[in-house]
Amino acid sequence: MVMELDDCIHGRRAIRLYEDKPVDRQLLESILNAGIWAPSGVNEQPWRFIVIQDKNIIKSLSDSIKTILLDFEWTDQFKDALSSELDTIFYSAPALVIINVAKDEQWHTIRTLDCGLAAQNMMLKAHDVGLGSCFIGFGNYLNEDEAAKDKVGIPSDHEVLACMVFGYPGEAPEPKSRELKVINWLVPEK
Ligand SMILES: Cc1cc2nc3c(=O)[nH]c(=O)nc-3n(C[C@H](O)[C@H](O)[C@H](O)COP(=O)(O)O)c2cc1C
Repeated sequence: MVMELDDCIHGRRAIRLYEDKPVDRQLLESILNAGIWAPSGVNEQPWRFIVIQDKNIIKSLSDSIKTILLDFEWTDQFKDALSSELDTIFYSAPALVIINVAKDEQWHTIRTLDCGLAAQNMMLKAHDVGLGSCFIGFGNYLNEDEAAKDKVGIPSDHEVLACMVFGYPGEAPEPKSRELKVINWLVPEK
């Protein structure tokens, strides 16, 4: 059963609580396939996907990121979250997808956009097939830990640009309000 596009766009939420249940490989493959249909600059399709369903590995990446983040200034509340034993980065989700690309200063911005577009396709597809997802911007701090990158097969000449978690949702958050801000809309003079 395929969802109407508007329902899918409006109904997707960032999910931060997951059922302790592995995600079917076929569902993850359908999500990855949605990702690669995103447009990309000069049709480069620069994305490389790492899929991790081993919860111990996901937790160890979360711990690496927390250690890195603790070196920065944060609110007390966030510091507590970083110091907690809980997986406050990847939310103990059963699946993590890390999109990484070859490093290239000149193409960095375009490749970041490419991966963001692939990520949105993937999160919409996840919602369409009944899975929750959350984009994890903190995942990019993995770039500060070469050993952690190496552990999951990301070479030092590649960088993480987009991380997302997926799983069966354990919560149904209310949508956050949106405001359409059109600053200017220029039409030809009559
Ligand atoms: C670039 C980006 C980075 C994000 N990073 C995080 C993150 O590190 N941790 C997290 O819990 N949510 C993260 N989010 C999720 C946003 O907080 C969420 O999308 C936003 O609050 C709107 O909620 P909605 O997705 O349910 O509409 C990120 C979203 C984006 C687009």
